[in-house]
Amino acid sequence: MTAVVVTGAGSGIGRAVAHSFADEGANVLAVGRTDSKLAETARNRPEIRTLVADITADGAADRIAEAAAAEFGQIDVLVNNAAVVTRAPLGGIDAKQAREQVETNLVAPLLLTQACLPWLRLSQGTVVNVSTSGAVRGWPMNSVYGASKAGLDFLTRTWAVELAPDGVRVVSVAPGPVETEIAENAGFSPEQIRRLRETQRAKVPLGRIGRPEEIAWWVRTLARPEAGFATGVVLAVDGAASVAM
Ligand SMILES: NC(=O)c1ccc[n+]([C@@H]2O[C@H](COP(=O)([O-])OP(=O)(O)OC[C@H]3O[C@@H](n4cnc5c(N)ncnc54)[C@H](OP(=O)(O)O)[C@@H]3O)[C@@H](O)[C@H]2O)c1
Repeated sequence: MTAVVVTGAGSGIGRAVAHSFADEGANVLAVGRTDSKLAETARNRPEIRTLVADITADGAADRIAEAAAAEFGQIDVLVNNAAVVTRAPLGGIDAKQAREQVETNLVAPLLLTQACLPWLRLSQGTVVNVSTSGAVRGWPMNSVYGASKAGLDFLTRTWAVELAPDGVRVVSVAPGPVETEIAENAGFSPEQIRRLRETQRAKVPLGRIGRPEEIAWWVRTLARPEAGFATGVVLAVDGAASVAM
């Protein structure tokens, strides 16, 4: 049976990814910092086990890989999904928040992938990095977040080449705006979220915000054996937002 590790699985896209794999019978280790959110993800789905872990903590990568291996005896898919975002213009960037974004969005996925690598080599598995389609052009107020995600896409391309001889694939799914708690978690007020959604809708040629399930479907699909010739790819799933003039 397929064994999957999903970070940031207590909400939004991560929860939808965990459900998508579990609903097809895969075993899932759902990782996040908040026990109650993970419990909600796992509710009525015995295929989903949960692990409370801050992916930026010392030793977290080894702890997560060891927990998955102990629970399932294998790791076939790693989904690096957890991330944090803090908006600020250059001149107003707080050092602690900048470090937190780089640590969470770039360094932690790197260390977790490394910790899972022996298992991924054994299974000839797949790494799916969740980045953002916004990181392909200048993005005011989001320079640190965008840089962390552009860096993650660079890891995808480089690791795809490094790991190809082992049969391990590495891909990125790059969402556009998706209806999740990300803005709330970034400290936006309800009124700011309403205005953000309006702006986002106007920028997406399809004229709407995406749903977490629409991102999860691509994560799941790219991890399938039938997608076996796709590696090193960054797939924008964003209603054409990143290709519009
Ligand atoms: N929603 C969008 O519009 C959008 C657009 C483009 C890309 N994305 C990307 O999609 C991914 C999922 O985001 P989302 O929209 O689903 O946002 P979300 O609901 O805020 O989910 C992020 C998850 O990451 C977890 N997390 C954060 N820091 C963590 C840490 N240090 N250790 C472990 N878990 C941590 C959070 O849970 P805890 O706080 O409980 O740990 C949360 O469940 C992210 O990579 C994001 O950058 C989202």
